[in-house]
Amino acid sequence: MKRLVVFASGSGSNFQAIIDSIENGAVSATCVGLICDREGIGAIERAQQNRIPVHVIRRKDFEDYTNYALALTAALMHLNPDLIVLAGYLNKIPSMVVENWRNRIINIHPALLPKYGGKGFFGIRVHEAVIKSGDTESGCTVHYVDEVYDNGDIIAQSRVPVLDGDTPEALQRRVLEQEHALLPTVIEQLLNKSDTNGRP
Ligand code: GRF
Repeated sequence: MKRLVVFASGSGSNFQAIIDSIENGAVSATCVGLICDREGIGAIERAQQNRIPVHVIRRKDFEDYTNYALALTAALMHLNPDLIVLAGYLNKIPSMVVENWRNRIINIHPALLPKYGGKGFFGIRVHEAVIKSGDTESGCTVHYVDEVYDNGDIIAQSRVPVLDGDTPEALQRRVLEQEHALLPTVIEQLLNKSDTNGRP
């Protein structure tokens, strides 16, 4: 059975979509761990409800960045994932980790990269920027993770219209709905379908 590790920093609705897709058989894998950068988030509650081990690994708990990166590396070596999924995770992945799991780390971003991506483009800010730009469509992107925020090769995208009068919150909801469909689909393709150029 293929092994998934999810990283999250927030409510975890994308994480829940993965859990549900494993439950209903759409994704043939087991989620062996959740790694978070903070306590008290919805993603941790969802992990606990589904008996998924939680590892809270915070930069501030380590004397320096190298020890923090080593702690992430050690946790991942223990969990031994076939695929690592960033589902609303707000920190850059240390290059030590990218190196060890290159092309086996993916991220979901709530916009059509390469637009509206990079440092500082997260959460509602993304949708505010899209609306301010006057773009008539938005969407979400699943991409490989490398050493630069939101920069790795794009794997798949899903598009939604930006409607007249859209608030950032309304657009966020419309995009999030697509995220919950796209992410599990990509995970299954990468893990279990030989007919894609999936790299894991
Ligand atoms: C999602 O919009 C995702 O695209 C972005 O952060 C948000 C996480 O939401 N990276 P959730 O925690 O999965 O509900």
